[in-house]
Amino acid sequence: MRRVLFALAALAIIAIGLALRPGALDLAARSTPYDTALAQAQSPADRGIAAFAFGDWGALGTHTLEVSAVPWRLSTAALALAEADGDPARVTDIDLEASFRRFGIHSPDEIANWPAHMDQPSRDAPLGLIRGTASGTWPPVEVTIGNSVCAACHSSVTYDARGRPDPTRVWLGMGNSSINLDSYTQALFAAFRDHDDATLMQAARALHPDMSARETLTLRYAILPRLRALVDERAATIDSFLPFRISTVGATNGLDSLRNRLDLIPEGEVVTESTFNSLPDLGDRLLRNRLLTSGSYVYPDADTPLTPADIDDDQRDRLAQMIAYFTVPAMGVSEAVAKDHRPMARDVVAWLETYEPQPFPGVIDPRRATAGRALYSAHCAACHGTYDDSLDTPRLVSFPNWHGPYGTDQARIEVITPQVVEAINASLDSPVRAAGVTGYSAPPLSGLWASAPYLHNGSVPTLWHLMHPDQRPTRFQTGGHALDFDRVGIAGTLDGDTWRYPAGHTPWSEPIIVDTRDFGMGNQGHAAEFAPLSEADKAALLEYLKLL
Ligand code: HEC
Ligand code: HEC
Repeated sequence: MRRVLFALAALAIIAIGLALRPGALDLAARSTPYDTALAQAQSPADRGIAAFAFGDWGALGTHTLEVSAVPWRLSTAALALAEADGDPARVTDIDLEASFRRFGIHSPDEIANWPAHMDQPSRDAPLGLIRGTASGTWPPVEVTIGNSVCAACHSSVTYDARGRPDPTRVWLGMGNSSINLDSYTQALFAAFRDHDDATLMQAARALHPDMSARETLTLRYAILPRLRALVDERAATIDSFLPFRISTVGATNGLDSLRNRLDLIPEGEVVTESTFNSLPDLGDRLLRNRLLTSGSYVYPDADTPLTPADIDDDQRDRLAQMIAYFTVPAMGVSEAVAKDHRPMARDVVAWLETYEPQPFPGVIDPRRATAGRALYSAHCAACHGTYDDSLDTPRLVSFPNWHGPYGTDQARIEVITPQVVEAINASLDSPVRAAGVTGYSAPPLSGLWASAPYLHNGSVPTLWHLMHPDQRPTRFQTGGHALDFDRVGIAGTLDGDTWRYPAGHTPWSEPIIVDTRDFGMGNQGHAAEFAPLSEADKAALLEYLKLL
């Protein structure tokens, strides 16, 4: 009898080994918090916020394990092991949420703008990371797959009346100005490289005592051997999972992620000149007919002004098509899977239509803000849009969709080659087309007060510095910062050529120093607009911009 069982187990192991070869088996998992939230949703907007925070978007399958998903139990074990100095006996002492927080990935107690009629979500991972368990009966495989979702990049700590960050309360839709997906990925790579299979498995079992025998076997005999082969090969060549940097802090490299997905990065090549897009607030995005600051996704009616009355179902569908397409680079799905999830993206659009940024929590001087409103209308509205007259929560009532040659750092538009444009258009089935661009698009400024650092590449730490071009610092600290409500942006003081956090501020995530002399990080441009303004004008305009 034992012999038979032994033979059966051996057979199962061989089957598992064969099953997870590329294309051999296609298993998918669901995200439990998404299903739980959907059960309480009463409207498309409710479903949309759930999809934004917890949706799986078809990205929890064995096919995404080939791209950007991770075997969750192994990768958490690897991270914990790294923090426990390689001792698997100590992994249970590690605070995993704190480990993720270092990379700007939140584990909040509360989502401040979650619908009041729905229960606060019960997460099964840090916010912005999703996981689900995929299993098949024959071959008997099981694997918990992890991936990242919109909320990883598009959620932010809230701020109190003095600009101090509160990581326990998070706002969905604000840009995460502290996220560092690159250092997260590098940490994972180093942990897999530096620990052997037996130690990793021991740590995974210690960290996840509920892990099934089936998953233990799958990890040991199907996942780890392939992961080991990949890590060994990469360690000997580029010493990284990916041939490009996927982010800095608060800014991500969507273009190289997409080029990688479309097989446009030649095998063996390492991309050294990458550009990074600073994360914006997602307020008022339905009024755009050209997307991204580079303006690379062009609607059929691009560059015409739009008002809220122009937002019809065509306009909603077009944004939904593009949002679904964003999951190709962001979550590692195929274009076909992305297209299947357009209805889910349409729910997100319904939510975005109701979305409002966190109101400015500090004190506003109404006299200065009134003067600032007039200055905004005279000097800024032609490109950034007209807001209603409110001095409480002004809303955008017309958006010009201004796009043109513009003197900020040019690298971002130069890296969008005709070859990239062609490959995107070949894979994108939508009236929205990718286009080669020669300028920048002026973005809506809604939610601006919390989205420092500024400009498309996140190269200017405060609005005050934006308004005083000759005083923009060469280097500055960012990540886990507090906000300065006088200058509006990253709180700091000048130390030589570097803007550093004030003494006494303990960053909630690991900061970096941005150097504006690096490729694509130039802080020049957008100066002429401020030249006619006096110091009093600038102070008034700054006061008004807090309200947007
Ligand atoms: C890896 C980080 C990341 C993830 C994940 C991500 N985004 Fe974004 N998103 C960005 C960045 C960066 C920008 C700004 C790019 C720019 O303006 O050039 C952006 C821009 C946007 C915009 C504004 C487009 C515009 O031009 O106004 C929308 C809407 C959006 N994202 C929705 C989503 C949704 C929905 C998801 C999930 C399905 C998602 N994003 C996932 C990084 C991310
Ligand atoms: C001629 C058009 C034009 C005018 C006028 C203009 N801007 Fe801009 N603005 C742009 C463009 C284009 C960008 C994007 C440039 C980039 O990111 O490289 C931009 C970016 C910005 C940003 C950075 C946004 C972010 O999310 O990081 C701020 C802040 C801003 N402008 C404020 C203003 C203010 C305040 C005024 C009025 C004094 C103004 N702009 C006038 C075109 C304009």
